[in-house]
Amino acid sequence: MSIQTPRTPQEYEVLSGGGAENAQLSRKGLSRRQVLRRAVGITVGLVALEGVVEGLAMLYPNLAGQFGSVIVLKAKSTYVAAEQKAFAIDQAGMFYEAAAKSYIMHLKPGGSTTLLMSGTQLDDAMSAESWTKDSDGTYWAALYQVCVHLGCKVPFRNDCNSFKCPCHGSHYNIDGEYLDGPAPRSLDRFSMSFDSNGNVAVDTGKLNQRVERPDVGTRILQVPGVQCSAQ
Ligand code: FES
Repeated sequence: MSIQTPRTPQEYEVLSGGGAENAQLSRKGLSRRQVLRRAVGITVGLVALEGVVEGLAMLYPNLAGQFGSVIVLKAKSTYVAAEQKAFAIDQAGMFYEAAAKSYIMHLKPGGSTTLLMSGTQLDDAMSAESWTKDSDGTYWAALYQVCVHLGCKVPFRNDCNSFKCPCHGSHYNIDGEYLDGPAPRSLDRFSMSFDSNGNVAVDTGKLNQRVERPDVGTRILQVPGVQCSAQ
């Protein structure tokens, strides 16, 4: 009595002139219909998975280094600190950074800078307005460029020692605090910090929109005291 050993698909191919696939299928106990069903199921699954991945990419885009994420700007020494009345755009105290859509304020205390509060009251006000106190005693803030009235870009005006919106005249102090005009609150600010290389970093994904219109009791800085024409 001879004992037949199962043939490999390759042997079956040689002996029968084809049909190795059928031999493999029959060995696994799968019909062609079952294989087709499995293939269709896998294809549908892959298409669905691709859709999920694309959906997640839209919901959570990779914004690294772009507006909406933390943007590392220049070295701290680039942003020269100045007293309140010495601010000059991109020269002293106030610097525009297009990538962060922000003005970087770097304020030097003393001289023409008068802080209207002190102690815990001042610390609380600065915290609420997203100021950053540096180890050398200067103060920083990153002010979002958009007017909180109807969204125009607000320029810093050297001649006004303040921000003045060209659209409807909203007027903001050098730290973004509301002065006058139709704006409902002070300028919005971004959270900012310094990285380990001594660069200024602005988190454009974290916007503080809660800085109210200050009154005489809650204002951090004195008003500029200069006339500011509409244009
Ligand atoms: S948009 Fe700035 S005052 Fe209206």
